[in-house]
Amino acid sequence: MTEYRPVFSQPAPIIFGCGAIMALGEQMRGMGRKRALVIYDKGIEDAGIAAKVTGALASGGIDYVTYGRVVSDPSDAIVDEAGELAVREGCDCLVGVGGGSSMDTAKAAAIYMYDPGPVRRYILQTPPSIDTKTPVVLIPTTAGTGSECTTVAIISRPELNVKWSAFVNTTLAVVDPELTVTLPKYETVNTGLDAFSHAAEAMTVRAWNYHSDLFAEAAIRKVTRNLRTAYSQPDNIEARSEMALAANWAGLAFNNPVTHVGHACSDAFSCHFHTPHGLGCALALPETLALVAPAVPERMRVIAEAMELPLSGGESGEQLGRLVADALRDMMRDMEMKPLSALGVSRADVTALARDVVENHLSEYCPVDITYGVAERLLANIYDTYA
Ligand SMILES: [Fe+2]
Repeated sequence: MTEYRPVFSQPAPIIFGCGAIMALGEQMRGMGRKRALVIYDKGIEDAGIAAKVTGALASGGIDYVTYGRVVSDPSDAIVDEAGELAVREGCDCLVGVGGGSSMDTAKAAAIYMYDPGPVRRYILQTPPSIDTKTPVVLIPTTAGTGSECTTVAIISRPELNVKWSAFVNTTLAVVDPELTVTLPKYETVNTGLDAFSHAAEAMTVRAWNYHSDLFAEAAIRKVTRNLRTAYSQPDNIEARSEMALAANWAGLAFNNPVTHVGHACSDAFSCHFHTPHGLGCALALPETLALVAPAVPERMRVIAEAMELPLSGGESGEQLGRLVADALRDMMRDMEMKPLSALGVSRADVTALARDVVENHLSEYCPVDITYGVAERLLANIYDTYA
């Protein structure tokens, strides 16, 4: 008999495949939209991706305005600027193009359009859900965040040194793997392991569900098989496609159950050390999984099997956690991921973030109670075991 589990839902339709971007204009006409605000950052503009998107909109008969000033870990001020532009220009939809920062800015700008004024009123520690009524189309250019198929918009509140969020309706995800081939190697690794962390944390979170498991397990298998190739052969469109699919599936996996303490650690690294989100998630992941493995041994076995690790069948949860953690660290070393020490932070700097980790709402979803002592030990282990 299967046990009762919380809801699984998918926020929006997804179009996937090389060339998917060319369907953009037609899709937006189908929604009755006429004028889009296209939101991205300088890297997307420099890579020529913004021009591809606006070209697809123009050829589909959709007028557009652009906002290209997104930065990593966007603040509520960036969102206000984009939202204010959308209102002033009479836009009737938003298109977020890029990694999580651009897509989350687009989601949160829809809140500004719903209620013009400082969006920080809605970016809270306990995220509110808002039906903004504005269509939001999301186009990822990394294979990692999965933000195109989640409702959460994560926004920095710099005055508080925290990242808080809101849940916002999204309308369409357009995932075109060809947009990921220009992704630098460093970002390929960081974002690819972010996708892995979404899947692995969604499988081990308190509120897991059967449908999310399906996407998570498949995503872990694809990342394990393809990330090294996407890293070493950036033009390999097969590996890029597999990674794009994996990241999208991992996004579907964590949309409902969300993530847990690994992401809480990454948020703390990001707020205090300006560590890129994916890098922080990757660095936190091995010891996060080692921590929770004894509490969720059957789930850790599925993760180990999806990673195609050699297993005897008799391993304890703790042993499975160690095997998974070691295999992840091997993957990180193979792709030359830097440790925290190389980022100029000390062990004491890292363990000093224990309070931040405890207070992050994501820690509540961890199957192990995250007390101050547990958080401090986890942070020390993260620092010590990948040096
Ligand atoms: Fe993430």
